[in-house]
Amino acid sequence: MTPLRLILVGLGARSRTWARVISENPDTQIVAACDPDPAARARAAEAWPGLPIGRNIADVIGTAADAVVLATPPGGREAQIEAACAAGLAILAEKPLADDVALAARYVEMCEDAGIHLIVGLNFRYLAVTQAMRSLLREGAIGRPEFGRFIYERWRDGTQDWLNKYPLEMDHPMLWEQSIHHFDLMRYVYETEPVRIQAHTFNPSWTMYRGDTNVAALIHFENGMCVTYQGTWQAGHEPMNFNWRTDGSEGITVQRAMFGDLAWGKRMQTDLTEVPLPPHEAWITDAAALLRMFVATCRGAPPECTGRDHLQSLYMLEACILASERQGSVEIEEVAQAAQSRGGHAV
Ligand SMILES: NC(=O)c1ccc[n+]([C@@H]2O[C@H](COP(=O)([O-])OP(=O)(O)OC[C@H]3O[C@@H](n4cnc5c(N)ncnc54)[C@H](O)[C@@H]3O)[C@@H](O)[C@H]2O)c1
Repeated sequence: MTPLRLILVGLGARSRTWARVISENPDTQIVAACDPDPAARARAAEAWPGLPIGRNIADVIGTAADAVVLATPPGGREAQIEAACAAGLAILAEKPLADDVALAARYVEMCEDAGIHLIVGLNFRYLAVTQAMRSLLREGAIGRPEFGRFIYERWRDGTQDWLNKYPLEMDHPMLWEQSIHHFDLMRYVYETEPVRIQAHTFNPSWTMYRGDTNVAALIHFENGMCVTYQGTWQAGHEPMNFNWRTDGSEGITVQRAMFGDLAWGKRMQTDLTEVPLPPHEAWITDAAALLRMFVATCRGAPPECTGRDHLQSLYMLEACILASERQGSVEIEEVAQAAQSRGGHAV
């Protein structure tokens, strides 16, 4: 079978992962790329001699291709989505799909109307640790899961060279750039949808970010799960503290690192049982698996991580923002309705 021909849109930090996993997958190839930054284009021209490289998607959309990979900042993707829809190219878009829920809802509608796949890059779903935790809960290893605690405490020095810079000026960078992964993981692993959120977002006095980097939330799900969430990019200590514990009627699961370290046990079992996980390379194994899913989808397999599914996680973000402003509780239904009426017809 001929490789899936991809146009890589955006040649910044995240594109490096995509460039590598695309080049290592015999089923995929980069046929064109674009970025408004001349330095990024120069690097790409050196890496891929002879490849069409433009300033924006309009410059390269005429290249014979099957799909586009959007590794651009989430704000300002209108022209990219429109161009892909008009050309009938499937889209693999980095998370979050947009920096506004109504706009994201509109993108979903546009792609559905155009009959193209819109897949969002939720790579953490494809980690072995995520799959293993989901299986444990499904199999009833800890009885009926009813509450959880998700902690992500990280000192993210946003001025470092290898990191993107736009989050420094974003509204709610923690929610849009980071918590989006966590909220997606909760929905995916617990296999349920959010109903209601209470939240408080803020910045510590020492923050280097304009928008809030701290999120404290209490999240209620349809199946009765209740999750206490604490996320920050401006933690007072390095290394990062990642800890996701789930309590069930008969025991607990606990993930103690972002890419692995999963254990579980019954209530009276003092020493938890470690779950063996296959070796992985952080950021690569997960993105490679996500890419394989995208290729399979383009060849007829049922899609995962669709834009429509992703809207539920975006509603959680918006609910956190509103709940913090109101110092109250926000129903997901309210956020969904508002996004639908601003973004297009029924979502
Ligand atoms: N899934 C993950 O684990 C993960 C990790 C990092 C970043 N991301 C996501 O990847 C996306 C990009 O982040 P990044 O870290 O690469 O940011 P970045 O700022 O380092 O790179 C973005 C690049 O896009 C280019 N760009 C801007 N507008 C463009 C346009 N209209 N057309 C083409 N290129 C354009 C910029 O010039 C820049 O080179 C974001 O959505 C981010 O959240 C995901």
